[in-house]
Amino acid sequence: MKLRLSLAVLVAVSLTGCGSENNSATVAGSVVETVPEVVAVEAPAEVNPEVLAADLKSLGCYACHAIETKRVGPSYRAVAEKYRDQSDAVPALVAKVINGGGGVWGPIPMVTHPHLKSEQLTPLIERILQLPAE
Ligand code: HEC
Repeated sequence: MKLRLSLAVLVAVSLTGCGSENNSATVAGSVVETVPEVVAVEAPAEVNPEVLAADLKSLGCYACHAIETKRVGPSYRAVAEKYRDQSDAVPALVAKVINGGGGVWGPIPMVTHPHLKSEQLTPLIERILQLPAE
């Protein structure tokens, strides 16, 4: 039964295949090949939470933060949740880490990190904001 069905499909497909003689478009006597347009879509970078956590630990951020749990400061998952769709948030957050400040997550302000450079923090903050929601 199954074999007969697939045979029928095969016959139908080959029939329609032979029936259409016009496989390539002809414009003014020349054959125009239609090349499918390839659109380069950049896949979103996968953020590995373990690698990110190690990098944050190496800069001392883990004294007050963790990825999953709120400590002195908010969890990085919560930070990602809040700013994920705000592309202009990265420079502001970088500045906040360097200069310190509070008033967003609670009464405790973040300490200053004057020894850290914005070139160093920018990719880090970008990775924090790419943490997937759970
Ligand atoms: C001594 C504790 C402490 C350390 C160390 C610390 N933070 Fe924070 N962080 C906080 C607190 C507290 C807040 C919440 C501030 C607020 O409510 O505005 C915060 C907030 C943040 C925010 C969100 C800011 C906002 O305005 O929403 C980011 C991003 C952040 N920290 C990143 C970092 C990074 C990256 C490091 C390491 C370089 C770091 N923090 C180190 C305490 C700390």
